[in-house]
Amino acid sequence: MSQTHILSGDLLTFVDDPFNAPPEEAVQILTDSALLIEGGVITARGPREALVSQHPNAKHHPHPGKLICPGFIDAHAHYPQTAMIASWGKRLIDWLNTYTFPEEMRFSDPTYAADIAARYLDLTAAHGTTTMASFCTIHTASVEALFSEASARGQRIVAGKTCMDRNAPEDLLDTAQTAYDDSKAMLEKWHNQARLSYAITPRFSPTSTPEQLEAMGALWSEHPDCLMQTHLSEQVDELEWVSALFPSARDYLETYENFGLLGERGLYGHAIYLKPREIDRLSEVGAALVHCPTSNTFIGSGLFDMADLKARGLSVGLATDTGGGSSFSMLRTMAAAYEIAQLKGAVLHAAQLLWLATQGSAKALHLNDKIGSLDIGMEADIAVIDLASTSAISQRYANARNQWDQVFPTIMMGDDRAIAEVWIGGVRQSIS
Ligand code: GUN
Ligand code: ZN
Repeated sequence: MSQTHILSGDLLTFVDDPFNAPPEEAVQILTDSALLIEGGVITARGPREALVSQHPNAKHHPHPGKLICPGFIDAHAHYPQTAMIASWGKRLIDWLNTYTFPEEMRFSDPTYAADIAARYLDLTAAHGTTTMASFCTIHTASVEALFSEASARGQRIVAGKTCMDRNAPEDLLDTAQTAYDDSKAMLEKWHNQARLSYAITPRFSPTSTPEQLEAMGALWSEHPDCLMQTHLSEQVDELEWVSALFPSARDYLETYENFGLLGERGLYGHAIYLKPREIDRLSEVGAALVHCPTSNTFIGSGLFDMADLKARGLSVGLATDTGGGSSFSMLRTMAAAYEIAQLKGAVLHAAQLLWLATQGSAKALHLNDKIGSLDIGMEADIAVIDLASTSAISQRYANARNQWDQVFPTIMMGDDRAIAEVWIGGVRQSIS
């Protein structure tokens, strides 16, 4: 029988969506509280002293004054870009051609793919991220590598073979048929195995022919419980390219919609330059947008309109977009989301930022019945945050005016040094 654990500290809990209700009511920090973890699941929650005395045989992990959060959920990443993150000087299309595609070619080698999958999951765990929705490359070896490694770690992830049959180097192209066949084979092998979910993954309209988009739409209609992840409206040059490639489409979203690639379980990364029709359609079908703030500044894409899109009721997740994004850290990503909101004239509360990185992303991935909160019944994926992890943060923490003011400096200035402990599926990880 697996060991029973108690984790105590200050618990981050959600009562409501902090974009719909006052943030400090919707998100609450329960001080000196504890979680009981049994069989990988949170089975009780309450004041520390009471829980500890009710469960004398549980192993107690005390974290006084630390913030116990649901593990961070990165709703859009490219694990194959781990080794080329922070590549200098290019905007999206040149960045793809110069850095991304050559690196992705290396994933035809299963050994390289396995090596990077392990490195990526080590790095993300060290930053407190316990689930991600990742693109792979066109190679099934890249899908095998990530799912095998995640499964060995008992980790919940979403991933899929990236499909491209045009506008990329020859060695990185599949076809409409092979994309369908390989995606289907990977889906049938991995979807719903252990904690793994398959996402149908056309990279973006410029690298798929209409035939390939149609094949992906057909596969999704045959497996409607899968997520579908792609990119949408990231950069102005890209929008012009899309309208040249799809002259009859009214807008970027229609290049997906016309082929069955718009739906409630669709995840649309970036979504910066949306037209009113696109916002209406995304909202009508209940699709999710994924905000990738460090990527949007690093590749020079633009400013996502969080306040407006959330006010319209859209589901929004938060993501690093590794390696277009410049960090593996969801803390750094929350900081960038804050900065971008400021540039748009809005102020995001610390409670909203933490909600986006956990519950918001879990909802976008339709996994909020399993992860993304510390409620009873949730899988025990947890990040323990040290709110005074460096001398710079510590001196600011000491000067905090209230509970949320203790948290905000770590959001703005924190990194992997703030991650004191990480639990995946009720198992404490060794992070260094
Ligand atoms: N659009 C198509 N592919 C990519 C990618 O790998 N990264 C980003 N940021 N945008 C993309
Ligand atoms: Zn991306």
